[in-house]
Amino acid sequence: MRTQVAIIGGGPAGMLLSEILHQHDIRSVVVEKHGRAHVLSRIRAGVLEPSTVDVLHRHGLGTRLARDGKPHDGMRLVWAGRGDLFVDTLRHTGQRMTTYGQTSIQEDLFAAADARGAALITQAQNVQLHGIDGAQPCVTFTHDGQAQRLDCDFIAGCDGFHGVTRSAIPAAMTREYTLSYPYAWLGVLAPVPPLPDITYVHHPRGFALASSRSATLSRYYLQTPLDARIEDWPDDRFWDELRQRFPSDWARHIVAGPATEKSLTTLRSFVVEPLRHGRLFLAGDAAHIVPPTGAKGLNLAVSDVFYLSRALFAHYARGDDSALARYGETALRRVWHAVRTSRYLTTLLHIDPAATAFERRAQDYEFEHLQTSVAAQALLAAQYAGLPLEELT
Ligand code: APR
Ligand code: PHB
Repeated sequence: MRTQVAIIGGGPAGMLLSEILHQHDIRSVVVEKHGRAHVLSRIRAGVLEPSTVDVLHRHGLGTRLARDGKPHDGMRLVWAGRGDLFVDTLRHTGQRMTTYGQTSIQEDLFAAADARGAALITQAQNVQLHGIDGAQPCVTFTHDGQAQRLDCDFIAGCDGFHGVTRSAIPAAMTREYTLSYPYAWLGVLAPVPPLPDITYVHHPRGFALASSRSATLSRYYLQTPLDARIEDWPDDRFWDELRQRFPSDWARHIVAGPATEKSLTTLRSFVVEPLRHGRLFLAGDAAHIVPPTGAKGLNLAVSDVFYLSRALFAHYARGDDSALARYGETALRRVWHAVRTSRYLTTLLHIDPAATAFERRAQDYEFEHLQTSVAAQALLAAQYAGLPLEELT
């Protein structure tokens, strides 16, 4: 097989890249390890920055998003004993956030791919990259028991944190920046009406978060110790703990119901640099991970893909490789902005079991400062809304 861009991974990054490239008459093949059902079964964050919504609309992917996405004017922070604060992105940045689940985006991307008869190979095993240093790279894999080879001009590594593309770059050529957090999140999806705002709660028992997927589908999270086990968290214990962490007048409005999904996530910040080696370009979770606080992960996958697709278009349409050469530095500006924002929100809102009394007191006064300083609120609102996309020429 031969194509122009071989895309490894059919998550949001890989599928969006193939869609945008198609709209620029650039051919691609997506090689995905799992089946579609598996890809669609992963429940992830669902808060879209204005620039993410813009990219999806610009590429004809906004029909269901416009209908089912829920606009939010910002996020609410609640601090046990100190009241709450609405971080108003609309007031401070003129922009709204939108709640729309990553699963829905993935469905929209598969539907668009089917409509154009896209080349998407699922259940590909033993994916390997070859010749990324030279002018004729290729990808080999096994599909339906047959060995396959895909020749291409470029390879896009969109295969998530546990993929193979990042490790195709010689270790001596890269630097990894990592931070692990000393707690986990237990997430529950339940068919019950959500609270009105995305609400982040700081409580001595641990952090809690209320979010939603629709008017009838709620998503809640609890901070747990790193060694928590799902079997120790039957539904009753989850709802009871959640209500204890919310102030009582809010807890009354939490509607409990049977969990349809329950998952544990560890929290990590991770960035690899550079994002390019020869003809391989990394995008999305293959290149960076943020803790879920602030829901920045999908937004970064979208901005990476936006920049990479524009750069590939400049290459094919005009023989101009300057944007490809600048892809990493351009994408990393937004990446590190979100890495800093998500780390700030994570350390602000969680209980670190090893924190000193000094650190806890300083944390309380950080929130006090946010409550009283409009300048601090404006800064946080702008961070939450995300950096605007740089239009490449
Ligand atoms: N070969 C081919 N595909 C692979 C391989 C491999 N060796 N390893 C993993 N994959 C596939 C996975 O099955 C998955 O479908 O790559 C895809 C990567 O998708 P995601 O992990 O969703 O990553 P990405 O597309 O970058 O999207 C980032 O996901 O983790 C969230 O918060 C994050 O919302 C963000 C989004
Ligand atoms: C979610 O809806 O899953 C979500 C919302 C906000 C976050 C993280 C996750 O910060």
